[in-house]
Amino acid sequence: MPRIYQDISLKPYNTFGVEAKARYLASFSGEQELRDLLNDSQFGEMPVLLLGGGSNILFTRDFEGLVLVNRIGGIEMLEEDDQYCVIKVGAGENWDELVDYCVNNGWGGLENLSYIPGSVGASPIQNIGAYGTEVKDTIQMVHTLNRDSLFPVAYNNHDCRFDYRNSIFKNRLKDKRIITHVTFKLSKKPQYNIHYGSLKETVQEKGEINLQTIRDSVIEIRRSKLPEPEETGSAGSFFKNPVVGQKEFKKLQAAHPDIPSYTLAGKRHKIPAGWLIDRLGWKGYREGDAGVHTRQALVLVNYGQAGGREIYQLSQRIGESVKSAFGIELEYEVNVL
Ligand code: FAD
Ligand code: EPU
Repeated sequence: MPRIYQDISLKPYNTFGVEAKARYLASFSGEQELRDLLNDSQFGEMPVLLLGGGSNILFTRDFEGLVLVNRIGGIEMLEEDDQYCVIKVGAGENWDELVDYCVNNGWGGLENLSYIPGSVGASPIQNIGAYGTEVKDTIQMVHTLNRDSLFPVAYNNHDCRFDYRNSIFKNRLKDKRIITHVTFKLSKKPQYNIHYGSLKETVQEKGEINLQTIRDSVIEIRRSKLPEPEETGSAGSFFKNPVVGQKEFKKLQAAHPDIPSYTLAGKRHKIPAGWLIDRLGWKGYREGDAGVHTRQALVLVNYGQAGGREIYQLSQRIGESVKSAFGIELEYEVNVL
C-alpha cells in the first residue's frame, strides 16, 4: 500500500504554485496500488482528485478528499514494422520526456508537441495541441479504469470524441475514468508539419528539417513566449480560443479590421483569445502577485504568493471585459477547482 500523507500542501503539485491543502494525498505506480487506495475504507465516500503534473489546474480552495498522483510508468512496444510503431505508455510518464524519447528514436508525430508540461495520462483529456498538431492525430487507444466499478475500459480514437481542447474525458466522462495508459501510433517515415506561425523560418534557420530541428525550434519559440513553470507559476493558456460563425465573424471584422483568425470547416472562425485580451490592454497587467503574462496575454501568472482565488477573480474580470467589448464569452481551458 502506498504511503498516505495527511493535510498536505498542494503547492508543489500544481504549476500555478498556489497554496491549497489536501486532506489526504498518495501516489500510485500501478493499477493494483490504485485499486487498493480506492478500496480503502478510511476514504469512504470522500471525493477523489486525480493529478498528473498539475499543469492544467487552478486550486481556489482546499481539497477535502483524496488526491491521487499518477506515477504509472513504462513504455512498451506493441507492434512495429518499417513504416510505423505502436507504443503503450504509462499515464504517469512525463509528457516531454516521451516526446524526446520518440524524437531520439526517429518516430514522428509528437515533435510539434514538445515542451508541453504534464503527464502522458492527461494528454488525451483536453487533446493537447500546439504548432498545428493535436495529440488525437497519434492516439490509438486510451486505457482507463472505471472509477466506480474499478473495471478496465479502453477507448479507441473515435470513442474518445476528440475536439479542440476537448474529449469525452473532459466532458461526459469527467471524473468518471482514470487514465492508466495511452497507446500511440507513430511514423517511421514522418511527414513534417511546420506551417504554424514562425515555425518554418525557425526550422529553416537550423539548416535541415528533421524531427530534432523541429523539436528544438518548437522549444525555442515556446521559451520566447511562455513562462517557464520553474520560474513563474502558470497553467499555460487560461482560456480556449473562441470559435464563431460566419455572421458573427463578419460583424467583428467590420468593427476590428485587423482581427486575426483561422478559418475552420463549416465557415467557422477561431479567434486568438490572446489578441482579444491584449487589445483590451491586459497584457502585463499585475495586481499583487496575480497577473497577465508580459509576452502572452492568454496566460495568467502567479508572480509568487498569489492565491488561487485572486487568479480566478482576475480571470473573471478579463472574461467580463472581453464579453462587453467583443460580445464573446470566453471558455476556461484550465480546470478550476
Ligand atoms: P493535471 O493538471 O494534473 O490534470 C488536468 C486534469 O486532468 C485534471 O482535471 C485532472 O483531474 C485530470 N487528470 C489528470 N491525470 C488524469 C488521469 N490519469 N486520469 C483521469 N484524469 C486525470 N496544453 C496544451 O494543450 N498545449 C500547450 O501548448 C500547452 N502549453 C502549456 C504551457 C505551460 C507553461 C503550462 C503550465 C501548461 C501548458 N498546457 C498546454 C496545459 C497542460 O500542460 C496540459 O493540459 C497537460 O496535458 C496537463 O497535464 P497534467 O498531467 O499536468 O494534468
Ligand atoms: N496574440 C496577440 N497577443 C498576445 C497573444 C497572442 O495579439 O498576447 C495573437 C497574435 O496574433 C498571434 C495569435 O494571437 O499570432 C496566436 O498566438 P499564439 O501563436 O501564441 O497562440 P495562441 O492561440 O495564443 C495556442 C494554444 C497554445 C499553443 C499555441 C501554439 C490555445 C488556447 N492555446 O495559443 O496552447 O501552445 O497556440 O500552438 O489554443 C495551452 O493550451 O495551454 C497552450 C499554451
